[in-house]
Amino acid sequence: MNKQRTVFITGATGGIGKATAVALAKQNYRVVIHGRNKEKTATVCEEIKRLSGNDKVDFIIGDLLLMNEIKKVAQTYIERYDRLDILINNAGGIMSKDRKETTEGMETTIAVNLLAPFLLTELLLGVLKKSDDGRIINVSSNSHQLNAKPDFDDLELKNNYNPLTAYGNAKLFLIWNSQHLAEKLIQDGYGNVAVNTLHPGAVATNFGINSNLGGLLNFLGKLARPFFKTPEQGATTILYLATSEDVKSISGKYFENKKIKTASQKYYSKKNEQLVWDYCKNRMNKI
Ligand SMILES: NC(=O)c1ccc[n+]([C@@H]2O[C@H](COP(=O)([O-])OP(=O)(O)OC[C@H]3O[C@@H](n4cnc5c(N)ncnc54)[C@H](OP(=O)(O)O)[C@@H]3O)[C@@H](O)[C@H]2O)c1
Repeated sequence: MNKQRTVFITGATGGIGKATAVALAKQNYRVVIHGRNKEKTATVCEEIKRLSGNDKVDFIIGDLLLMNEIKKVAQTYIERYDRLDILINNAGGIMSKDRKETTEGMETTIAVNLLAPFLLTELLLGVLKKSDDGRIINVSSNSHQLNAKPDFDDLELKNNYNPLTAYGNAKLFLIWNSQHLAEKLIQDGYGNVAVNTLHPGAVATNFGINSNLGGLLNFLGKLARPFFKTPEQGATTILYLATSEDVKSISGKYFENKKIKTASQKYYSKKNEQLVWDYCKNRMNKI
């Protein structure tokens, strides 16, 4: 595969994102990492260069909770680089037991796990379309099967907020949006850009550590942690989707352990998929 393919990974200051960035830098990709804290991200960038021996590693800063910051992240990327081969929307996570909104008025779980990848992808589609093998990889979760319980009249859970439901819903909608985009790209004649989603497994990272889900869930999380995968193991399916020739022409699918899996169909309908896509579009129009 082309040695100078460029990859942009969000949330690459730790956990699965960082493990992915290190592995791709070792394989001589040009790696652009994203983080929200400048000092931390710059330090990780230098660490990745040292660990990989690859000096083509760079970083971009931005808080993905805020759509206005995402616009700046995309703008910076486009100003610096002329093309993008692989976009990995990895940043995300579970929020705390009390519902919170961003300063732009969005529920925080849906903002970072769904609206951020939606907007960043839309803004970077132009540079992705220049690639002869463009790949968008959206990190979802099996929480879409375990915890999702969407209310289609209240997508941001103003009434019955629960952090696990909010997270499961956002990861379910991320799968639907990815299917939707995959189809749209084909219809628009951009079969050179694929979009897929995955569940990385239960991975021992900072995920959920500061979420304060409430006593019982915090306790269960700590109890299960020794049995979790390492971040490097958690990165394997992302790396497979980013680099393997086997998946070059596969788009709109959900993966686990490097295999296509049927995502939960419990709440699925074409109408609901369209409703979520339109919600994201409308949300973007309001900022
Ligand atoms: N770990 C698991 O068991 C598991 C299971 C299923 C799915 N996932 C998914 O895997 C992905 C990676 O998670 P992880 O396990 O590696 O967790 P992690 O260690 O908490 O890493 C998450 C990354 O996202 C960044 N991030 C979070 N909120 C952000 C925001 N508002 N703006 C910018 N960056 C933000 C974090 O930046 P900071 O360093 O600044 O906090 C960090 O780099 C997530 O999408 C998660 O939902 C994880």
